Amino acid sequence: MDGNGRWAQRRHLPRVAGHRAGAEAVRRAMQAAADAGVEVLTVYAFSSENWRRSEEEVSDLKGLMRYYVERELDTLQKEGVRLQLIGEPGAFGNDLYDRLVHSVEQTQANSRLTLVVALNYGSQGEIAAAARELARRAVAGEIAPEQIDEKAIEGLLQTHGLPPLDLLIRTSGEVRLSNFLLWQAAYAELVFTDVLWPDFDEQAFNAALSEYARRQRRFGGR
Ligand code: FPP
Repeated sequence: MDGNGRWAQRRHLPRVAGHRAGAEAVRRAMQAAADAGVEVLTVYAFSSENWRRSEEEVSDLKGLMRYYVERELDTLQKEGVRLQLIGEPGAFGNDLYDRLVHSVEQTQANSRLTLVVALNYGSQGEIAAAARELARRAVAGEIAPEQIDEKAIEGLLQTHGLPPLDLLIRTSGEVRLSNFLLWQAAYAELVFTDVLWPDFDEQAFNAALSEYARRQRRFGGR
């Protein structure tokens, strides 16, 4: 969800105004995904590298999340959206963490769309944690090193149980993955758009879906 800062800068507004508009764009994307019959939508809300931002910006982002997690619970229920988290959101403190977990629990029975929010998430860290756990099991004699294969690693990723990643969209003209779902993106279709995240609306979402539909997916075959 890149481009919030630039969106605000162009309007001579503080960065937090861009994040606020970005949060509104999350709501629109959620609606567009549900309407299009998308099963799972994952948004990268805070990376494990975002702690490098100013204390003020981190605090603004936490404030926004607190506001939305409270305010949007009704919407999630009404729209049949199941909330799930990946990353290490415990680092945001007990108050926010407890509210997030509450919303996750309250929405578990919903089945129209799963909204996965990546909070304090980093893909390399996620893979390293899986490797660490498999090494621990091997040392404890619970598994043989030969049993460590793609399936074993996948089973320990935080996205375990979710369907394979089909489409990855990055906004604002940046053309890199920035530590997001690296393993999961092995065969995903990548769409890069110049649209800044706060401007990413239903039309932009559907344009990305159309581009995805035009791609020929071969998964290494012919
Ligand atoms: C990247 O834009 C955006 C972020 C680091 C934050 C994303 C967070 C939200 C959209 C709000 C909270 C989320 C939810 C789920 C309610 P940038 O700041 O890097 O923009 P720039 O590259 O133009 O500076």
